[in-house]
Amino acid sequence: MLSKGKYTRILPLLFLPLLLVACGQKADSDTIRIGVALYLQDDTFISTLTQSLQQTALEEEQTLGVKINLNIVDGRGSQTAQNEQVDQFLDRDYDVICVNIVDRTAAAVIIDKAQGAGVPVVFFNREPVEEDLNRWKYAYYVGTRASEAGQIQGNLVLDAGRADPAAIDRNGDGVLQYVMLEGEPGHQDTLLRTEHSIRTLTAAGVAMEKLSNNSANWQRGPAKLRMQQWLDELGNSIEVVFANNDDMALGAIDACLEAGLEAETMPFVVGVDATPPALKALEEGTLRGTVLNDEAGQAADILALCCALARGEDPQNTVTLEGGKYAWREHTAVTEENLAEFLPAEP
Ligand code: BGC
Repeated sequence: MLSKGKYTRILPLLFLPLLLVACGQKADSDTIRIGVALYLQDDTFISTLTQSLQQTALEEEQTLGVKINLNIVDGRGSQTAQNEQVDQFLDRDYDVICVNIVDRTAAAVIIDKAQGAGVPVVFFNREPVEEDLNRWKYAYYVGTRASEAGQIQGNLVLDAGRADPAAIDRNGDGVLQYVMLEGEPGHQDTLLRTEHSIRTLTAAGVAMEKLSNNSANWQRGPAKLRMQQWLDELGNSIEVVFANNDDMALGAIDACLEAGLEAETMPFVVGVDATPPALKALEEGTLRGTVLNDEAGQAADILALCCALARGEDPQNTVTLEGGKYAWREHTAVTEENLAEFLPAEP
């Protein structure tokens, strides 16, 4: 095994396969062993992404003619538990580890552990700060750009308002009164989706008035409670509900339905993810727009990166990596107009 320092020195591309074999990768093995540490398996988006990972692994096995052993573990929201899971993966000599980190400020610890063991680490969905990712050449990130989801969400409201102003600005005062349901504090998607959704509208000249905001930690139940409280306090003055993800958008819709509102009378609710229950709500007309968070594309990039690294190949031959480290997938707006493209095919 190479000493830590050697990785950080100049690494000519020519020697990459050699180095990966040397740092514990089994390029000639017919089984690729990947450890996947989730922050919280119960999270709706993460469970959808996990299903895509499993499906993609089956497909890659066929394509590459190798066995892919995916060991998926749940950190249940504890960074301490996740660190132990990572230690176990490294002790068991996994080829690559994939980390959906619980606390994104704790990435340095995991990167240092992986570097010590010479095992590449692929972070996904919860983005470490760049400084941490730069600690080691073999630390990567797969995800979607958080600001882009916010911009698309803002545009969903902008387009709907332009098409039919009265449907959004219900009191006709020329100002959009809104509430913001935020995800987990400190998550890149919470910070940037919140900022860029509103910024997109104000940059287009729309006057915005925030009536209230609160975190519901990405979850439907807490979002429903927040919305119930807002409906009590603010009544029908809420024109738009921005939710940082679909589960919280669905929680807001639950509260509206329980308060006796219908699709036509409830505020204009937008989310992010395009999870299966959100697509159903879009079909029913209660959710007005969402943003595809491309879990299938992210799963494909994660698997492609892992397989290339485990086989001692240059990952850039299979995945486009910005700065040699970041694999980005694009978001797509989903509304009732293009919904059919995203619904699962009939069996
Ligand atoms: C998704 C959320 C999810 C969160 C978990 C976000 O990208 O939009 O639905 O809860 O990631 O980290």
